[in-house]
Amino acid sequence: MYKIKTLNNIAEEGLNLFNDKFEIVDDADANGILLRSYKMHDMELPDNLEAIGRAGAGVNNIPIDRCSEKGIVVFNTPGANANAVKELVMAGLLLASRDITGAIDWAKTLKGKGEEVAKLVEAGKSNFVGPEIKGKTLGVIGLGAIGVLVANAAKGLGMQVLGYDPFISVESAWELNHNIQKSDSLDELFMKSDYITIHVPLMDATKGMINEEKINLMKDGVRLLNFSRAGLCNDADLEKALESGKVARYITDFPYDKVLNMKNVVCIPHLGASTPESEVNCAVMAVSEVKDYIENGNITNS
Ligand code: MLT
Repeated sequence: MYKIKTLNNIAEEGLNLFNDKFEIVDDADANGILLRSYKMHDMELPDNLEAIGRAGAGVNNIPIDRCSEKGIVVFNTPGANANAVKELVMAGLLLASRDITGAIDWAKTLKGKGEEVAKLVEAGKSNFVGPEIKGKTLGVIGLGAIGVLVANAAKGLGMQVLGYDPFISVESAWELNHNIQKSDSLDELFMKSDYITIHVPLMDATKGMINEEKINLMKDGVRLLNFSRAGLCNDADLEKALESGKVARYITDFPYDKVLNMKNVVCIPHLGASTPESEVNCAVMAVSEVKDYIENGNITNS
């Protein structure tokens, strides 16, 4: 029997794909591990471990180097949660324009009855004027599964979309997405965009990519979204830009203490993939990959 250990909740639609050669175990000695956000860095890797399936795209929570040394294959599920993440990013885009959360918080403070409240609403609503996104330029950094979906959805809302991807074959992304204007460089994207959204993995080349030098290239009052990874922005440089208003609004699902209560920041927990549909898609893909490798030695998406 092959033993599979789960370190997070994995949707049963995925687990049900294991046949009777597999069993889900609690003990440390597993052939396969399935996880979502559990951080494996301090974990001892079982001697029999052959494969790890991450139900999600990023693999920062897995000790890749130690896995490579031991010949353990690490799978992820690119694209399986892309629609769910895109939908949260689109909410972020609207929050980047209008202070909807501020307006909701303010409305909850209103006291009185009937006409009294109506008068307070009328008097206060001018504090919450924000621009329309239609006609504005959205810079999309990273044109993988999520970036492309975000770009096309933003097009649907009437935005001009400028895309840049430092890693994937840029030409093929453009061939498939004629709607996206190509930025020749990241700096050009920074200079031309009214809104910027980041969709790249965290790695040495992308760590701190939003820093003082790059922020200085951006338009005054630019609106920034980070639903990808903490660490892509240099926190101190970003906080300075938020305080000065150079960055008018920052919407992220990587909250941390210094920005939690800033007026021009909206912090959401890391919820992009948290839909039942995406949890099922990721589980089905991760289980299929791990099962196929352990049973047949086939490798997909490692
Ligand atoms: C991912 O890596 O796929 C996303 O960050 C979503 C998640 O796993 O929560």
